[in-house]
Amino acid sequence: MDIYFDNAATTRPHDDVIAYMASVMRETYGNPSALHGAGLAAERTVREARGRVASLFCADAGNVVFTSGGTESNNTAILCGARARRRQGRRVITTRAEHPSVLESCALLAAEGFDIAFADVDGEGRLLPASVEALLNGDVILISCAHVNNETGAIQPTEALCALAEAHEKRTGKRIAVHADAVQSFGKLPLEALARRADLLSASGHKLHGPKGAGALFVGRNARIDPLLVGGGQERGLRSGTENVPAIAGFGLAAHMAHAHLAARAEKAAACKRRLLAGVRAGVRDVRLNGPDGAAASPYILNLSFPGVKGEVLLHDLEQRGVFVSTGAACSARKHAGSHVLAAMGLSRAEIEGAIRFSFGDFNTEAEAERAAEAVCAAVARFRKLGRYR
Ligand SMILES: Cc1ncc(COP(=O)(O)O)c(C=O)c1O
Repeated sequence: MDIYFDNAATTRPHDDVIAYMASVMRETYGNPSALHGAGLAAERTVREARGRVASLFCADAGNVVFTSGGTESNNTAILCGARARRRQGRRVITTRAEHPSVLESCALLAAEGFDIAFADVDGEGRLLPASVEALLNGDVILISCAHVNNETGAIQPTEALCALAEAHEKRTGKRIAVHADAVQSFGKLPLEALARRADLLSASGHKLHGPKGAGALFVGRNARIDPLLVGGGQERGLRSGTENVPAIAGFGLAAHMAHAHLAARAEKAAACKRRLLAGVRAGVRDVRLNGPDGAAASPYILNLSFPGVKGEVLLHDLEQRGVFVSTGAACSARKHAGSHVLAAMGLSRAEIEGAIRFSFGDFNTEAEAERAAEAVCAAVARFRKLGRYR
């Protein structure tokens, strides 16, 4: 049996999600905006999913806007969040370690005359709140940072960012919106404290054993965004387009299932991560952990470098042994550009080229982690011998 350790890229949908989506496609095919019974049934299905997603955000259903996924949620939060506040200022603060859907949105804003300021991350990929504080001025309208970094698993001090924004508002009377890309934490870590203070949160269905093509944007009470898509006025006018009812339904069920076992699932992922790391460290020397250790990182993501071994070569060797991993984010893997996240952390070219990301999901077991560790050790030892690594 293959071992799938690339759950940060995407997850296998739960069988119950697949069955539910199939039944919605077959039976609940009405347009949720239609006034007849078929439309009302579809509207009820979307309403139930909205409630489920909202409760995982620890929010009210009225704060959830369904989107096509994490990319659209991030684009909407940043482009539309900034544009809606352009009269208040032009500065947006983020980091160089963000997902491309954040960085490319910021690049578009820069072309429109916004001022994008990059706060520093440390050698473990953690944002330094003091560096954000140093970038605050009267022109700041938005701060955007991932809650969990998708490559290193670093849990970012997003609540500290909210506190900085609140203190700034008290001092100056001017509000700064805080957006957290929660794509890698939604359904994995508790979001209650963050949702209470953040203005905008992004989530994506396919990262938590739901379908691709469904995501959500939490829009807080005080947040203002202009819509990215305009037309029929669905989603309270914030996201036009006929709702993707089957995917939204599947996303809702996946969120519901994740919510019910949040802590137990995180503990299971943590056990896989611990077992894999211990096995690798016991079998080969010079293993570099890219990202924070222990509770400062997500239990779902482990990023390692093996000096003397290229990550891509290792990835394909592991694939031959039935272990699927990645060299970083799936969206940049095909560009062969090297990880911009690890570069922002100050890693050398060799360390970046040697990086491998293991990411865990509900279907993984500790026995798989042990088997994967053996495969990694055998491959690294062989490549190092071939390369005369000392
Ligand atoms: C942190 C983060 N943000 C955003 C995205 C984009 O999500 P989607 O694939 O649903 O567009 C991803 C997906 O890899 C991600 O890991």
